[in-house]
Amino acid sequence: MGVLDRVVNIDDMRNAARSRLPGFVFEGMERGNGDGNARNVEALERYRFTARALVDAVQPALSVDLFGRRHAFPMGISSVGLASAFRPRADELLASAAREADVPFILSGAANASVETIARIAGDNAWFQFYGTAKREVTERVIRRAGDAGIKVLVYTVDFPISPRNEVMVRKGVSLVRPLGWTGIRRNFLDAVMHLPWALEFLRGGGPQKLDAWVPFAPPGADVGGVLGAYRDLCFHNQTWQELEHARRVWPGKLVIKGIVHPDDAARAVDMGVDAVTVSNHGGIKLECMAPAIDSLAPVVAAVGGRVPVFFDGGIRKGAHVLAALCLGARYCFGGRYTLYGVSAAGQAGVARSLEIMKSDIAFNMAMMGCPSVAELGPQFLAPGSREAA
Ligand SMILES: Cc1cc2nc3c(=O)[nH]c(=O)nc-3n(C[C@H](O)[C@H](O)[C@H](O)COP(=O)(O)O)c2cc1C
Repeated sequence: MGVLDRVVNIDDMRNAARSRLPGFVFEGMERGNGDGNARNVEALERYRFTARALVDAVQPALSVDLFGRRHAFPMGISSVGLASAFRPRADELLASAAREADVPFILSGAANASVETIARIAGDNAWFQFYGTAKREVTERVIRRAGDAGIKVLVYTVDFPISPRNEVMVRKGVSLVRPLGWTGIRRNFLDAVMHLPWALEFLRGGGPQKLDAWVPFAPPGADVGGVLGAYRDLCFHNQTWQELEHARRVWPGKLVIKGIVHPDDAARAVDMGVDAVTVSNHGGIKLECMAPAIDSLAPVVAAVGGRVPVFFDGGIRKGAHVLAALCLGARYCFGGRYTLYGVSAAGQAGVARSLEIMKSDIAFNMAMMGCPSVAELGPQFLAPGSREAA
């Protein structure tokens, strides 16, 4: 019996990923400094819908136009760094599945794969994410390289001025900035051995991998840790609005700001000329006791006032969660973990299944809701009580 045979929803996929990965790897994906990830999911579960009867919505139109390009359905794959810890060549597998499903795939600036490889695999389904750096010439080189590779949409993340923390990982002796160095593996040897298929594939894949985009900025010949150090030193710093302004000046393509939760920040970014705003709290791993991401969506949508599209991520595990965000005014949704579960559990086939689950879930719920197209979703489909949030 195959791993995917019993996978009906994203919770099943999460369980399959959890079985395959050692605890110190799974927890690195799951947790931050507390339970913000779980809170993101719980908050989305609060939404209640109403439905219209006798509407022809049996085959709802799911496609969405983003920057003049139609995508198959309103849920893409968000940027996740260091993904080869979950499965060797995870970036490539995620990108291939996104191209096949025809949704955007955002390559993390902290990815192991090169932007050239991913642009080749995913074409204009590939977007590129990065953090502004402490050095303008470095930022310009990173941006120029993405443009030269054919990337049209740049995602500028603004949520981590300092290195993230993860108490579970610290307890297991694995640091988030040096995840899966050999020290971490030695300290969790038994855990790794108990998950032999993962361990063997990890070793066959060459063990810990460098962050491709930062190799040119590390000392010549730097190892995995040396490149991570260069990334950390350049990206985690006192980030400023001036840096965003600079990126806007030097990047001629579409610019998305990701990691916004405050309406005033959203309005300021739009004034500076960004082309879209992504409401995100980095999957709940940013700030202790932070509000769930979905709670920030409606205020940001109001502040942006339709000037640019608003995207949303954080806690989406089912189609109804996507519908809640779209009813609250998001144009498009993204997720990190739902496809990481897929790639961890079963490689590209797992990612394809996660995407298919999301797509069919969205279509099923829209048909039941009596909503014939994504463009018609809005607060009118939220039940009283949920509607006040919009
Ligand atoms: C393991 C992991 C690594 C991540 N790495 C990045 C990153 O490099 N850049 C970034 O902008 N966001 C990163 N994120 C945040 C995701 O892009 C996204 O905002 C988040 O996963 C959404 O929440 P969800 O996982 O509940 O869907 C990461 C998230 C996870 C779980």
